[in-house]
Amino acid sequence: MEKRKGILLAGGTGTRLYPITMGISKQLLPIYDKPMVYYPLSILMLSGIREIAIITTPNDKNQYMELLGDGSQWGISLTFIVQPKPEGLAQAFILAEDFLNGSKSALILGDNIFHGDGIRDLLKQANDSDFGASIFGYHVSDPERYGVVEFDKSNNVISIIEKPKIPPSNYAVVGLYFLDETAPKRAKALKPSKRGELEITSLLNSYLNDNSLTINKMNRGYAWLDTGTHESLLDAGNFVKTLQKRQGLQIGSPDIVAFENDWISKSELKIRSEKFSKNAYGDYLKAID
Ligand code: G1P
Repeated sequence: MEKRKGILLAGGTGTRLYPITMGISKQLLPIYDKPMVYYPLSILMLSGIREIAIITTPNDKNQYMELLGDGSQWGISLTFIVQPKPEGLAQAFILAEDFLNGSKSALILGDNIFHGDGIRDLLKQANDSDFGASIFGYHVSDPERYGVVEFDKSNNVISIIEKPKIPPSNYAVVGLYFLDETAPKRAKALKPSKRGELEITSLLNSYLNDNSLTINKMNRGYAWLDTGTHESLLDAGNFVKTLQKRQGLQIGSPDIVAFENDWISKSELKIRSEKFSKNAYGDYLKAID
């Protein structure tokens, strides 16, 4: 069985963050001291995934390539795929079909930020699963902004509804999906929604209809941060700053995850730290033993 591959979706027009995103891709914006895309990339790496495709718009591809390179600095391999038009999150599986080449996958949305003690184990478990689709539900105060899980009285999942006006529960589906090798085939069979997009929730419902969807609750010990509005973008930056300052530990660093995973050596980490010798991030990397 082939290893699971990762897909990081960094497309979209970011209209909700205009005028900031009129000249730059949303997932390149800073979350305190790192570009946004570092955080979801670190999550795929924490899951143990080393072959990752980054999906971007045609305009933004070069900037992502410049920022992330081929991944060898982190002992991973990065492939860049262009999404000509933003026609829905599920389209990622169609665009990445050749890259996946029959493998299972994990799709992460480039604007989703996760943090919490024990997250590595939670992710590893999902990565090791052979089940059709493993997704995560997270309790939020504003579920109408997300894909929402509908449970029956015995707590079984009945459906997942995209941005319902009246949410059936407070459980939002987070932007991290571990899917089996049937995802591209299922995505191709989907019909566009009313807003003309191949919705990720439709793809999840296809698994649910085949009894092959499991939802794990990501409990309150984890932070799932959203960066979809000006306010939540700033909140995410402040969250990272507050925790890093208090603990003296880094959040969302592919450099550190690569080193912890034994994918790069100490001397390779040192070389990376020299690139950032003028700031606290570089000092942190340099001091690791
Ligand atoms: C997307 C998905 C939604 C999911 C959310 C997570 O919404 O469509 O199901 O809950 O990501 O971030 P978007 O934020 O792109 O509107």
